[in-house]
Amino acid sequence: MEAKAALAGGATRIAKQHEAGKLTARERILALLDEDSFVELDKFVTHRCADFGMQDQKILGDGVVTGHGTVDGRPVCVFAQDFTVFGGSLSGAYAQKICKVMDLATKIGCPVVGLNDSGGARIQEGVESLAGYADIFLRNVLSSGVVPQLSAIMGPCAGGAVYSPAITDFILMVDRTSYMFITGPEVIKTVTHEEVTKEQLGGAATHASKSGVSHFTEPDELSCIARLRELLAFMPGNNAEDPPIVPTQDPPDRENEALDTVVPAESNKSYDIKKIITGVVDDAKFVEVQKDFAKNIVCGFAHFEGRSTGIVANQPLHLAGCLDIDASIKAARFVRFCDAFNIPIVTFVDVPGFLPGTTQEYGGIIKHGAKLLYAFAEATVPKITVITRKAYGGAYDVMSSKHIRGDVNVSYPAAEIAVMGPEGAVNIIFRSELDKITDEKAKAEARARFTAEYKERFANPYKAASLGYIDEIIRPRETRWTIVRSLRMLKNKRMTNLPRKHGNIPL
Ligand code: HXC
Repeated sequence: MEAKAALAGGATRIAKQHEAGKLTARERILALLDEDSFVELDKFVTHRCADFGMQDQKILGDGVVTGHGTVDGRPVCVFAQDFTVFGGSLSGAYAQKICKVMDLATKIGCPVVGLNDSGGARIQEGVESLAGYADIFLRNVLSSGVVPQLSAIMGPCAGGAVYSPAITDFILMVDRTSYMFITGPEVIKTVTHEEVTKEQLGGAATHASKSGVSHFTEPDELSCIARLRELLAFMPGNNAEDPPIVPTQDPPDRENEALDTVVPAESNKSYDIKKIITGVVDDAKFVEVQKDFAKNIVCGFAHFEGRSTGIVANQPLHLAGCLDIDASIKAARFVRFCDAFNIPIVTFVDVPGFLPGTTQEYGGIIKHGAKLLYAFAEATVPKITVITRKAYGGAYDVMSSKHIRGDVNVSYPAAEIAVMGPEGAVNIIFRSELDKITDEKAKAEARARFTAEYKERFANPYKAASLGYIDEIIRPRETRWTIVRSLRMLKNKRMTNLPRKHGNIPL
């Protein structure tokens, strides 16, 4: 029976899977877990369906391999859908196997990794399969924020097979061999007459850059599995634990003189915020999340003194670092993940404001921008904010400002913190004076004078510092030590929000 179970859908289907550049469910699990650590559960479970001749097609394990093991010595529960068995489609029995490992994970407080490769609800099982999906969705929801949940998409995932991953914390896709859609190209053609390939509709590139559904795209399955292991190292096993410490030789007080010249003196010139991030984190190692989506904000994981840290940063290279709908949603979700799992957040701010325009307003930037505000405000993990240049308007408040419980807020000397940029401000507050001047040359001179005056008075960090909104003004080269020192100081921070059933984040 063991040998039969291991053969799953049979040698032909396994060969087909390999030909498509895909591993089998068991091969994926063995690559993910530490050597010899996998303990398989429910290997002999079969489906209970007696319709459409299914009673004669019972395969041991029924299309999903489940169990537990370790990654870097830490426990992990895992399930891997087996495309060689009925296209990895989900039966009632199969769903129960997944639910069993999910329940185990919440009981022992360890992450759940799902390796997905499934045609969705098993059509022959009808409502029993739908019920099975709902049982999984319920567990995804109830364990959200309790144990980390990671989903790798390693084949075509349709219908119900995409909703469970959607509720989990991170989705990884394999380029060119994985797809996610609610309804496939054929159904779309029938209903809306649109013609679209499955790659265009739900391939890795689509979800990484257009829909923002996925968080990582990997070139092949082994890279995807390596990424899963890397991500797990940044996370605790559950919400009551701290993430593991990763040893480093990088000196905590390392000064980086190169940082002094990264931010250009001209405030309208762009620069790459990632130069600052990699210049300050341990060993320059930064794992970026959703790197091809909403590039105007950068989110990802790094370590300071070996401590896992979430980084959120405006990116002046894209849309001048403005906050828009996509950026707000992307960063809000990331901030909430970090907060749920005791990962401190370091925020780098260079934001000219929210992106103006009808597309943004009609799309609901008001409610979406509010998500990021909500996420930063409710977060109780240590929050450190570094203003590298602009912090204008509502975006200043949103980006982990002192007012929404930033613990340590510092700025570089050339920072500009004000309601709006000098040009816009001068047009409003000096409009009547400017209107009175009829000579164009004199008007331009007056405008330049007013702008200089505004810059002198407001476009600097000293007003905010004089009010205590900025704790300290630092030289860029000192950024790493400032962050490390702050994280040390905040190590034992304990803060809880008022008890409530749950907040009502503007979804
Ligand atoms: C039963 C299925 C199946 C399914 C695939 N198979 N999907 N069996 N139920 N949902 C079987 C096929 O019959 C075939 O069996 C084998 O798996 C491999 O499938 P192929 O079609 O040969 O593979 P491929 O060409 O790679 O295409 C993969 C696929 C396609 C894109 C996933 O099979 C497909 O479109 N399947 C249906 C997807 C779908 O509409 N699912 C239901 C969604 S509704 P043999 O024996 O020939 O090898 C849903 C509701 C839940 O999920 C909603 C909850 C919110």
